[in-house]
Amino acid sequence: MSYNLLKGKRGIISGALDSNSIAWKIAERCHNEGATFTLTNAPIAMRMGEIKKLAEETKSEIIPADATNVDELTNLFSKSMEVLGGKIDFVLHSIGMSVNIRKNIPYTEANYDYYMKGIDVSAMSLHKMLSVAMKLDAFNEWGSVVALTYIAAQRTYPFYTDMADIKAMLESITRSFGYHYGKAKKVRVNTVSQSPTKTTAGSGIKGFEDFFNFADANSPLGNASADACADYCVTLFSDLTRMVTMQNLYHDGGYSTTGISMEVMQKFVN
Ligand SMILES: NC(=O)c1ccc[n+]([C@@H]2O[C@H](COP(=O)([O-])OP(=O)(O)OC[C@H]3O[C@@H](n4cnc5c(N)ncnc54)[C@H](O)[C@@H]3O)[C@@H](O)[C@H]2O)c1
Repeated sequence: MSYNLLKGKRGIISGALDSNSIAWKIAERCHNEGATFTLTNAPIAMRMGEIKKLAEETKSEIIPADATNVDELTNLFSKSMEVLGGKIDFVLHSIGMSVNIRKNIPYTEANYDYYMKGIDVSAMSLHKMLSVAMKLDAFNEWGSVVALTYIAAQRTYPFYTDMADIKAMLESITRSFGYHYGKAKKVRVNTVSQSPTKTTAGSGIKGFEDFFNFADANSPLGNASADACADYCVTLFSDLTRMVTMQNLYHDGGYSTTGISMEVMQKFVN
C-alpha cells in the first residue's frame, strides 16, 4: 500500500548491498511512497553487489562514494542535487563495518588500526556526510537524516565488540550535529535502533543466529523485520514527524524495555 508520504521528496540512500540489506528495503519503500533518490555505496561494494537491479527497479542513479572520503561525499551530494533537480530532503546512513568483528578478534584484544577503521566507516562517516551537506547547503528546510544503530550502544553485548563503542559515537554525532543542523536549517537527525536482522553485516557477528532467536523470544512483538524498519524510516523522512530530532528511536518489537519474557524464563525452569 502507498500513502504518497514522500511525494516530491529527493533523497540519498546509502548501504544497499544486496536484497537482504535493510537499505534495500528502505529504498523500495521510499520509491513506493513517491520519493526520488540516488543510491550510493563504497566502490568495492559496487563491484560485488547487485545494486544495479535496485537502481532499475527504483529508477535511481548510482553514485559510488566511500563514506570515509570527503571528496567522494562532496561529489555524491553535488551530483545528487544535479541528478534529482534540486536540494535534498532525506538521507539514509546505513553503513556499518568492523574488521575486528570480521576477523573474530575478541573485544579485549582489539586491533587498534581496525578499531579506527570501524570508527571512520561506521560513525565518523555520518559526521562527514552532514558536514559536506552543510557546506554545500544541500538540504531543504525540514530535511531528515536517519542512521541505523543497535542497542549495544546502551547495553553490553559481548559479541558486538568494538561496534558497540562505534554505535555509541554514531548516536552522539546524531545528537551533536542534530543540534547544529536544527538551528541552522531545521534539518532533523535521528538514529533508528533496529532489531537483529539477517543481512551480510548482521550475520557476520559471532553467534548471530542464536542471538536473533533470543531477541525474538524476548520481544513482545517479536523481532522487527527489515520491511518494518523501512516503513518506520518512511515516516521519519515524511512531514508527519517534523518535530522529531536528536533521538535514538527503538524499532525492536519492545525488546529494549522488556526485562525478560515468559518464553525466555521457561528455559530456566527446573
Ligand atoms: N543487521 C542487523 O542486525 C542490524 C541491526 C541494527 C542495526 N544495523 C545497522 O544497519 C546498517 C546496515 O546494515 P545491514 O544489516 O543492512 O547490512 P549490509 O551489510 O547489507 O549493509 C552495510 C553496508 O555498509 C556498506 N559500507 C561498508 N563500508 C562502506 C564504506 N566505506 N563506504 C560506504 N558504504 C560502506 C556496505 O557496502 C553495505 O552496503 C548498519 O549500520 C548496521 O550496523 C544492522
